[in-house]
Amino acid sequence: MCAGARWFAIAGLLVATAGARGGERSDAELAYFVRHDCGSCHGMRLTGGLGPALTPEALADKPVGWVRTVILHGVPGTAMPGWRGVMTEDEAGRMAVQLKEQIHENR
Ligand code: HEC
Repeated sequence: MCAGARWFAIAGLLVATAGARGGERSDAELAYFVRHDCGSCHGMRLTGGLGPALTPEALADKPVGWVRTVILHGVPGTAMPGWRGVMTEDEAGRMAVQLKEQIHENR
């Protein structure tokens, strides 16, 4: 990923945060969620456990939209649950960007 695209994504996150309505999790809250609720299966540093690694390298060839869909709907027939009852589509999208950019590490 080139630096320009990275900054574009971060700028997008800031805009999303500013525009977030009450009740939506902030990006910092999502980052906490990732470490605590996804780390139990994907490893504390998301380098893999019961589930595969969710590092930027591991997700490099997976589009953000695909990651978002997996987060929302899970992978049927596997231990990966769908989280759509727990978070909004917008939150899942922002979480997918955090994973691909490893932004959750710095929150
Ligand atoms: C109960 C265990 C469990 C939890 C909790 C969990 N996952 Fe998973 N996840 C899995 C398993 C197992 C797979 C592999 C499914 C398969 O075989 O395709 C997976 C697959 C995935 C994939 C697809 C990765 C790939 O390269 O195929 C993504 C993305 C993902 N999980 C994100 C998340 C996120 C984000 C969270 C937290 C909101 C989360 N997972 C929480 C077990 C879990």
